[in-house]
Amino acid sequence: MSIANTIRSRRSIRQFNDRAVSMELIIQLLNDAVWAPNHGMREPWRFIVVEREGAKEKVSRLILDSMSHMKRIKLLPEKVKQLMRTRLNQVPAHLIVVMKVDKDRHKQEEDYAAVSCLIQNFQLLAWEKELGMIWSTMEFIRSPLFHEGVGIQPNEQVVGMLHMGYFDKMPKGKPRTPAEKKLTVL
Ligand SMILES: Cc1cc2nc3c(=O)[nH]c(=O)nc-3n(C[C@H](O)[C@H](O)[C@H](O)COP(=O)(O)O)c2cc1C
Repeated sequence: MSIANTIRSRRSIRQFNDRAVSMELIIQLLNDAVWAPNHGMREPWRFIVVEREGAKEKVSRLILDSMSHMKRIKLLPEKVKQLMRTRLNQVPAHLIVVMKVDKDRHKQEEDYAAVSCLIQNFQLLAWEKELGMIWSTMEFIRSPLFHEGVGIQPNEQVVGMLHMGYFDKMPKGKPRTPAEKKLTVL
């Protein structure tokens, strides 16, 4: 597949089948993804893979507990919350992408951009292997409870949690605005 085809055909995947995602594949994809551009070769990332049963259960509970104070979660019936936890638990694997926080705002922005490039590399490489994912930035990624539970250090932030797995149904693509409509030529 050409790069253009991979970029255009990739979809965010939210429903996964039961097929396991191998740790070897995750590492292989990450080793290609780390060739992302990054200023000063700071390589400002590190990764946490959650794929063992006990760990997935712990992380699903942490995600729900981290958001339990939020009105839209608090008001949900216990049964619905349980269902959300079960669904999270059924995700074949999670990848937490962690970034070093730099006090210098300029470097911080460069590093966030570099980590985002790495994540997109990872998504596209996975797509070529028919492995789908959703990049989540829901509120829990900033929660101290979640940070403590998965071992995020005070000088780190979570750029995203990638929930990933194989899938049976491909969502329809959402159309993009042609670049010409957002183009200024000086
Ligand atoms: C930085 C970033 C954060 C995102 N966070 C979420 C999220 O928290 N929940 C979610 O359902 N989708 C999230 N998405 C996925 C977008 O909703 C998705 O990319 C968009 O709807 C376009 O669909 P496509 O990826 O299938 O082309 C995120 C995407 C990006 C780039």
